Amino acid sequence: MKALVLSGGLGTRLRPLTHSMAKQLVPVANKPVLVHCLEAIRRIGITEAGIIVGDHADEITAEIGDGASLGLDITYIRQEAPLGLAHCVAVAEDFLGDDDFVMYLGDNVLVEGIGAAAESFAARRPAAQILVTKVLDPRQYGVAEVGDDQVVRGLVEKPADPVSDLAVIGVYFFTPAIHEAVRAIRPSGRGELEITDALQHLVAEGRTVTAFEYSGYWQDTGKTDGLLECNRVLLDRIEREVHGRIDDESRIDGAVFVAPGATVTRSRLTGPLVIGPGTVVRNSRIGPHTALGEGCTVQDADVEDSILLDGAVLDGVGPVRGSLIGRRSRVTSPPGAHAHRLVVGDDCRAVVA
Ligand code: DAU
Repeated sequence: MKALVLSGGLGTRLRPLTHSMAKQLVPVANKPVLVHCLEAIRRIGITEAGIIVGDHADEITAEIGDGASLGLDITYIRQEAPLGLAHCVAVAEDFLGDDDFVMYLGDNVLVEGIGAAAESFAARRPAAQILVTKVLDPRQYGVAEVGDDQVVRGLVEKPADPVSDLAVIGVYFFTPAIHEAVRAIRPSGRGELEITDALQHLVAEGRTVTAFEYSGYWQDTGKTDGLLECNRVLLDRIEREVHGRIDDESRIDGAVFVAPGATVTRSRLTGPLVIGPGTVVRNSRIGPHTALGEGCTVQDADVEDSILLDGAVLDGVGPVRGSLIGRRSRVTSPPGAHAHRLVVGDDCRAVVA
């Protein structure tokens, strides 16, 4: 079995970060979402993975390389424009050949992994198997109608009036039957070749599509709130491991990971949290549920439930909550400042208390 990981697309819902980086490379618990996906794939025994890349191809290739460090043999497959999830299957047809494959959306995180789903697919080997989970508002997802026998009766992409509360999660198991279905469908109203339509085509042709109900934590990290929630859930699982230099005036409580090369002075760290290599924390309160990337500086600050990407600076500000601060961004409050001064790029959001 092979894997096809979708890491193209525009990431419009995660702007401004995605003006300059792929949304699949945004870190949760200090690890890019895409790496979480690839690790889940490797854990079910797959070694051969194709990654669909678009405009951010160079950055993704630089981060993941040939996959050897993850135990994977990776082939990059260029998609000229984000023409839909089924279009990704079409452009990967040569790579996939006649093999079964798992298609994994590169912005989805399934914290408990996909082992049980893979076993279920292998045991029954339907034409395709989707993963579903109950959600409060199914209108933002693909929605499946599933019988008691776990067989899918129908699927609709982002319906205004959902027939069930079962959202389609971004992990699909396919036999080569999907290729004929992809060839049979036409672009949707939003101009994309929808994988939901290809699956619906299989159902209409009388092929068996099953649904595996995922009971673990799942998140589509394509939006800020989902990303922060996923960060909280992953941090809740980390174990205490303190490297770096922590002075005697600092206090550490709970599951705190401090990377080698980080420095913490006169600060209070409340886990769960992670601090990346080379990051400097001075006279600050950090956590819980906070991930500071590599080479960040946090001083005279108070930050909780937030993600700082590499090289970000927080100086003299707080309380900072529910925030996502991009690479090399600076949020400061110099002594004597009497007004807010904002230099923010396109599509940014600043909520000033
Ligand atoms: O997260 C689950 C949902 O994912 C499902 O419930 C929907 O049925 C499914 O269509 C999908 O919806 P999204 O609107 O969230 O898909 P998005 O455009 O975010 O694309 C998902 C991933 O695939 C993302 O990592 C970008 C990548 N992608 C997307 C398109 C449209 C590509 O690589 N190429 C593309 O052409």
